[in-house]
Amino acid sequence: MPPYWSLGFQLCRYGYKNLEHIQNVVDGMRNYNIPQDVQYADIDYMERQLDFTLDHTNFHGLPAYFRQLQDEGMKTIIILDPAISKNETNYPAWDRGVQMDVWIKNEDQSGPAYGKVWPEYADEFLPGKMENASWDFQVENYRSLVGFPDFLKPSTHDWWHEQIVDFYNDPTEGIRFDGIWIDMNEPANFIPGNYDPTTNSGKCENNIWNNPDYTPWVMGDLYSKTICMDAHQEGTDGTTYRHYDVHNLYGWSQTPTTLRSARVATGKRSIVVTRSTFPGSGKSGGHWLGDNTSKWDHLHKSIIGMLEFNLFGIPYIGADICGFWGEPDREMCWRWMQLGAFYPYSRNHNQKDVIAEQDPSAWGPEFAEASRAVLLTRYRLLPYLYTLFYEAHTKGSTVVRPLLHEFRTDRNAWTIDRQFLWGPALLISPVLEQGVTSVTAYMPDARWFDYYTDSEVSSSSRGSNMTIPCDMNCIPLHVRGGYIIPTQEPATNTKTSRQNKFEMLVVLNDDESAEGRLFWDDGESADTIESGDYLLLELRANMGGFTTIVTHKGYQPDSTTTIGSVKVLGLKSTVGDVKLDGVSTSRYTYRQNVLHITGMNLDLAVNHEIRWSKTTSAAVHLIPARWQLLFVFAVLCALLT
Ligand code: NOJ
Repeated sequence: MPPYWSLGFQLCRYGYKNLEHIQNVVDGMRNYNIPQDVQYADIDYMERQLDFTLDHTNFHGLPAYFRQLQDEGMKTIIILDPAISKNETNYPAWDRGVQMDVWIKNEDQSGPAYGKVWPEYADEFLPGKMENASWDFQVENYRSLVGFPDFLKPSTHDWWHEQIVDFYNDPTEGIRFDGIWIDMNEPANFIPGNYDPTTNSGKCENNIWNNPDYTPWVMGDLYSKTICMDAHQEGTDGTTYRHYDVHNLYGWSQTPTTLRSARVATGKRSIVVTRSTFPGSGKSGGHWLGDNTSKWDHLHKSIIGMLEFNLFGIPYIGADICGFWGEPDREMCWRWMQLGAFYPYSRNHNQKDVIAEQDPSAWGPEFAEASRAVLLTRYRLLPYLYTLFYEAHTKGSTVVRPLLHEFRTDRNAWTIDRQFLWGPALLISPVLEQGVTSVTAYMPDARWFDYYTDSEVSSSSRGSNMTIPCDMNCIPLHVRGGYIIPTQEPATNTKTSRQNKFEMLVVLNDDESAEGRLFWDDGESADTIESGDYLLLELRANMGGFTTIVTHKGYQPDSTTTIGSVKVLGLKSTVGDVKLDGVSTSRYTYRQNVLHITGMNLDLAVNHEIRWSKTTSAAVHLIPARWQLLFVFAVLCALLT
């Protein structure tokens, strides 16, 4: 179950030059009041890209700055790569790894299977040399030998845990992160196979593991960009495996142990995002769709990837918003921010060599305002998204789903991959092409309402395409009849938004009924579901009323976090005489089949019943009841004077 904050918007880039660079980006977000929950540090924060170190020249103040952000209600995520440099003096990550025998072994098991990844040799002349050298030359000549921890082995978990917890607590080097991003864990290697001193590059024996009779489509040999397939790994019970047999489990084996360590270090629920996954990874980690490109067609591709990963049981998923490789185009990035606001894992991330800043504050006020608006919509909908994650966590359901999962007998829905749903009830139909100001959206056979205007989609559009005008400020959202969507007044981070009032959006179906759920807990303690420290509300509605039923009461929210309003869409006859827990209330309006009851303060942890009756005085409630009373009072005063 992801912590609540991890559903907020996240910002990252590879190539932050120094602490000031990060600070400027966060300040930019704040100047425009754009929601942001998480700030990242990529490998730039490390000394020579060595895990568990800090670059004191450029990022000396980073630990203090991240603590400041945390005090201000934000969260931080740092990157860790698995490959550990051996060419160091007094480097605990390597030294302890040797003592604890954690490395994947070479073919004859005489020592670690060495490769070369990021870490550079400790040579003060390197930076200048690196800049002018070709990639292969710099890999061969300036990068350290690295060992790859064998995460199938229990002693490796102890070693990794020790490194993570020590780093978190280290007063001079350490960073108090809230989550961990594990990268390069295919495992990636910049030389083909294991290090060979004669060539200064990679090499593997010609045998059945490295060169099997049948090689699936890969870039070159099976060991290209990774270690030799004949390397040895060791399982829990001492069983040994060839890397050939377990290669695809590398990230899978690293993820749960990283999450456990992050939870112990932080003392809270945490999050791990991993580049390499396998079915089962979703139990302990989320995923981003890897190094994509700043190109229009990658918006569409990201939807397909997101839907697929939900099927793989990894619902915490998203693509690098605005693209990783290549210079982003303003319009593309704008539209991508709108789409990415509906990724379960919503992070804008950029590559090092890209000159442009692509965070939403980098493109001027209009862009910032559009991003702010769409992210505020996301933040309003977070209680619904969080509840979907509760369902995924307890039942294995999908969070984001294709239309065909909800409308299985509708053959038209089977081919739709440019639109997607959050759970059963929210349909998202983004703009995915350049210069386009309308969306052709397929509306499956159900009652649908425009999320922004509350107006019902014409019944003639059911089961057919609908053209929706969509300027640069628009991403069409529709809510489905039959569902109740719990929402909450948004804010620029979830620490604040979680204290705001809930708004229940009741969307009636053809039979004028609807149902939904709300899962709520403190959002960050570990294992609240397992320990029962949460609230679960069943939400029900029909043509005569709305009820909340507390089916699990293990958490009491703050006194400010109450149900403030209920909006009912799709009533077929005029209603009036609204009673709140048996007491008449005048704080409602009824306009164009929308009943809106406001000004409430209902304790979330108690059952409630709101009832209304059909009435003939249709016009009366077009204006709020308190204004009507004032009007009558004013007329009486006028008559008396
Ligand atoms: C590769 C990752 O996919 C990317 O997201 C990251 O920025 C770089 N490694 C640098 O850490």
